[in-house]
Amino acid sequence: MLGNFSYCNPTKLYFGDDSLKYLNEELPKYGKNVQLIYGGGSIKKNGIYDQVVETLKAQGKNIIEDGGVMPNPTVEKLYEGIEIARKNNVDLLLAVGGGSCCDYAKAVSVSVNCKEDPWEKYYIRFEEPDCETLPVGCVLTMAGTGSEMNAGSVITNHKSKMKVGHVFADERIMPRFSILNPKFTMTLPKRQMIAGVYDIFNHICEQYFSGDDDNTSDYLSEALMRSVIHSSKIAVNDPQNYEARSNIMWTATWALNTLISRGKSTDWMVHMIGQAVGAYTDATHGMTLSAVSLPYYRYIMPYGISKFKRFAVEVWNVSTDGKTDEQIALEGLSEMENWMKELGLALNITELGANMDMIDGIADSTLIMNGGYKVLNRDEIVEILKKSL
Ligand code: NZQ
Ligand code: ZN
Repeated sequence: MLGNFSYCNPTKLYFGDDSLKYLNEELPKYGKNVQLIYGGGSIKKNGIYDQVVETLKAQGKNIIEDGGVMPNPTVEKLYEGIEIARKNNVDLLLAVGGGSCCDYAKAVSVSVNCKEDPWEKYYIRFEEPDCETLPVGCVLTMAGTGSEMNAGSVITNHKSKMKVGHVFADERIMPRFSILNPKFTMTLPKRQMIAGVYDIFNHICEQYFSGDDDNTSDYLSEALMRSVIHSSKIAVNDPQNYEARSNIMWTATWALNTLISRGKSTDWMVHMIGQAVGAYTDATHGMTLSAVSLPYYRYIMPYGISKFKRFAVEVWNVSTDGKTDEQIALEGLSEMENWMKELGLALNITELGANMDMIDGIADSTLIMNGGYKVLNRDEIVEILKKSL
């Protein structure tokens, strides 16, 4: 651990199949007006909406409805949510859904009392809020993003073809509490479940594939990767397996709640390329990552060979006997590819709706990060995108 850092995560978690009852302990801490944020209606079909509403009513809250948050929430929807919160003097933003609802709630939180245009301030200039924010609580229904315990918020602007994530430094933006009931994730369509699994896995990779010091964060990352690989193989054949689904949910939280990035420079280039693909296709987040990962990792592998070798051995149990470092590292990536195929993940961007004509635009939309093993230039991003077609 050669880096210097601080660590604080104020989100209180309630985990397990009885966790929703703890909403009763949290709600009295906030005022009467609760903006109930949810997506396209899955919570109405699976009964979660009714359970939450019943609790809110029993606690004497005014429920202010804010449904229709789409996957990859848009800036237009954000403006709508800000208006709802302002008009109703909202005291608590309660997101009931996946990462999109949590992210959107955080974006509303920092914008309600903001005098400037939030898109410009937070997603173009990456500034921190200098106004009062609203508290966010979360009832999670999809495991993947880690948004339930972090200060990240991703918003899509279709007009400018940008999908931008702001990870706020301000801990006030992290949810005050999150309720994690693995049973709530059981109604997810298989495609969403596996997209979430790959999102988890890639969050860990983005932090792991950086730096070369001996770092506790890397050992934690390897354990989390082994757990999610193991549980995903069970869940893909038996989606109702509570033990596997609960491990996936808990791993998702720890994969991106700032713990395993301590002391790491972190990469995040798969996410930057994936988000640019998402800005052009509106495809499911986890699938945009899986579709570009193999060409990306095969390209940067020579620049971080010892970490890719360690990944092969520690995560994928590749044997080292009589092999070169490069052979071992490549075998690790092949094992990863086999697992991705076993799950049924998207392995190219064509199936997500991207085509050759979009490559230049996607490359232009890709933010270039400098914490990984190779700082890419635009031509290299174009090459990786072409290999991902
Ligand atoms: O909208 P509804 O009807 O609820 O349906 C959703 C949506 O269609 C459905 N779903 C969720 N829970 C369900 C369910 N369907 C049946 N049963 C359930 N229990 O699943 C679909 C996807 O939901 P969404 O919230 O969009 O998925 P996810 O959790 O993957 O969130 C994706 C968003 O999070 C951002 C992504 O970019 C994307 O915008 N991310 C946020 C991060 C963060 N805050 O740190 C980091 C990530 O890297 C990611 O970028
Ligand atoms: Zn992600």
